[in-house]
Amino acid sequence: MQQTLENIREKALAAIQNAQNTDNIEDVKIEFLSRKSELNNIKKNLKDLSNEDKRIIGSLANKIAHEIEEKINEKYQQLYQKELNEKLEKERIDITLPGSYTPYGKEHLLTQTINEIVEIFNGMGFSLVHNENSPEVETEYFNFDMLNIPKDHPARDMQDTFYTKVAPNVILRSQTSGAQIHEMLTQKPPIRVVAPGRVYRCEAVSARKNNLFHQIEGLLVDKDITFADLKGVMNEFIRIYFGSARPTRFRNSFFPFTEPSAEIDVQCIMCHGKGCRVCSGTGWLEILGAGMVDPNVLRNVEIDPEIYSGFAFGMGVERLAMLKWAVDDIRLFFNNDVRFLKQF
Ligand code: PHE
Repeated sequence: MQQTLENIREKALAAIQNAQNTDNIEDVKIEFLSRKSELNNIKKNLKDLSNEDKRIIGSLANKIAHEIEEKINEKYQQLYQKELNEKLEKERIDITLPGSYTPYGKEHLLTQTINEIVEIFNGMGFSLVHNENSPEVETEYFNFDMLNIPKDHPARDMQDTFYTKVAPNVILRSQTSGAQIHEMLTQKPPIRVVAPGRVYRCEAVSARKNNLFHQIEGLLVDKDITFADLKGVMNEFIRIYFGSARPTRFRNSFFPFTEPSAEIDVQCIMCHGKGCRVCSGTGWLEILGAGMVDPNVLRNVEIDPEIYSGFAFGMGVERLAMLKWAVDDIRLFFNNDVRFLKQF
């Protein structure tokens, strides 16, 4: 029995000696000190021995167990330190390296322009329409029919408007004017709203024209509204937006949903009226269409044109941004070139 214990001791010390890493030493611990170990077995069976042997073997077994445990702990410490040092060495961090740089983002110039324009109209009592009253995927009914646009109007042509495959009458809106109808069906006069958003037109892309652009629709319906109110609001908007009065002109025009109608031009900022690529040589840039809401449109939404009148306008956000910031190509807004975008 004593010899057996001695053998266990020797085997254990050799195993401790040979352990290469902390995993090995854990295994050694299990092998020699666990409940199922040989040593523990001997201790468990002491009761079968004589009193004399019980004392001798018992104390020797305890002594050996202590010794093994101590050696295991010692070795474990050594190996643990070694592994830790290796790990620290391997995972060394060079604190002198530059950190990773995340540039600050900012609002796109078009978003800034929309917010600025909406704020100007807020100041004149216009509120922003709810999104659901200004959807981009629209039906012909809202984009054309309710706006008094006849069935054979060229805007309804596939050459000009993007039709979808959702249904024959579902289109990408070609103007924000549908928001007028949605709004007049939602609330009763007095109405004073602006509705910004994207519009889509199927036409050739150039420095002035893109398939996708932004408009801000405005609508005011109340009693005793006249063309003078429209002129006053438009001139006030232009004065605030451009920071000073700029040369403008009201040209008589035609829209099926306003009568009378006007197009409002601002003098070309690029050439100061001399004529250039941006203004197609005219010296003027059209920034908005406007007019008095056609009585037919009011009737369509069951507002009595004998009691109420109103005006509507639709302005091109890109044009307004181009004029204010002297941007000479509309495509710059959509190319996502940060060298352009970060200037604003
Ligand atoms: N919807 C017209 C366009 O896109 C602009 C407009 C809006 C004209 C409101 C009159 C009134 O050209």
